[in-house]
Amino acid sequence: MDTDPLGVLGELRRDRGAVFTRRRGEIYVSDPALAKEILANNDGIFREHSDFFRIKTGNFAPRSAQVEIGRAARVLLRRHANDHADELPALVSGLAPGSQWPDAGNRIVYEHFRPALIGAAPSAALRAVVDQIVERAVLAGARERYSRFARHRFRARVTRTLCAEIAARRARPAAEPADLLDVVAAAATARTRDADLAEVFLSCLFAVAGSVGFLLGWSLYLVGTSDEEPAHPAWVVREALRLWPVAWLFGRTPNREHQLAELTAKPADEVVVCSYLVHRDPAHWTEPDEFRPDRWAEGAGQEAFIPFGWGPHACTGAGVATQVTEALVGLITSAYRLHVTAPTSRPQVSAALAPPRFHLRLDPVSPPEGR
Ligand code: HEM
Repeated sequence: MDTDPLGVLGELRRDRGAVFTRRRGEIYVSDPALAKEILANNDGIFREHSDFFRIKTGNFAPRSAQVEIGRAARVLLRRHANDHADELPALVSGLAPGSQWPDAGNRIVYEHFRPALIGAAPSAALRAVVDQIVERAVLAGARERYSRFARHRFRARVTRTLCAEIAARRARPAAEPADLLDVVAAAATARTRDADLAEVFLSCLFAVAGSVGFLLGWSLYLVGTSDEEPAHPAWVVREALRLWPVAWLFGRTPNREHQLAELTAKPADEVVVCSYLVHRDPAHWTEPDEFRPDRWAEGAGQEAFIPFGWGPHACTGAGVATQVTEALVGLITSAYRLHVTAPTSRPQVSAALAPPRFHLRLDPVSPPEGR
């Protein structure tokens, strides 16, 4: 990947317009209306898939199992978030007086949701392996700290442990899913491989501990580097999703040759909807590169806002992800003054858009006089 892929894409858009090629076979789309049209796929021009259910062998199938997993995951996580909201203040107090980000965000979100991911009393082996996946694969830049050989060996251990767990759950189905491993096991048909279910479970783990953790990191980074008083948590989180959408590229495969603006998209091409560019479209946003959470007071710009995708494959976890992030941002910004120190303001760019590394110092806000 280029050293500044976002800068490169911004320049290409400026020079070539809203639809452009970057490398041979890759067509980028930054026009909001066209982006939504592609993701909605009403005319069936694209193959029906989302990045979430992409697995090594192609696409997790059938679609009915995808839909059921999305639905059941949403219900389970929402219930967990509602039932355990009173545990958030204790997690937040562990961040003071200082913490290292974005890792701290991934770790507290994981800790909060762990029982919903792997159960309240997982075996020692399962707990150890999933804790290590977070440390070795979810945290930004973690993968690069290990050799190819070490990654390969670890992947084999992960597959073994998750497959054994999923096989045990398929053998004794739960009346009601207690965690996301039950959710994926329940969606299996007789022909589904345990290894495919393990990959879908990993997508859930990356969405929860990775994406939600990064969103929390971006929100606090932006508040801590702004001169303004913290705005309403919901506006902060929405503005963080606009400026730095964690899911910033959604790839689609054309079913047939067709015209996209001036370009011809062929079945061998990948059409890439870029939420990062859509969210900075100057025709839809005033001062698109500025952190202005109060813009959300008027609810403006929704037509150029796709942080959770759009259409049939839009994120089923969007509601719970924003609910928990807003709760954490609210707890932190109301109890502490935030001080951010960062060696660089460059995001960490990979499949997800993660915040730069930063140190967050939290100074308690003193209670008003007389209290
Ligand atoms: C800040 C957190 C999150 C972000 C930014 C995010 C973003 C997205 C995006 C952009 C898509 C569409 C991908 C595409 O069209 O190719 C998506 C799909 C999906 N997300 Fe999320 N997600 C987040 C958290 C979650 C959580 C916590 C879950 C729960 C497990 C979840 C479950 C799903 C599922 C199941 C899909 C696939 C929907 C389908 O294909 O039917 N996401 N997500």
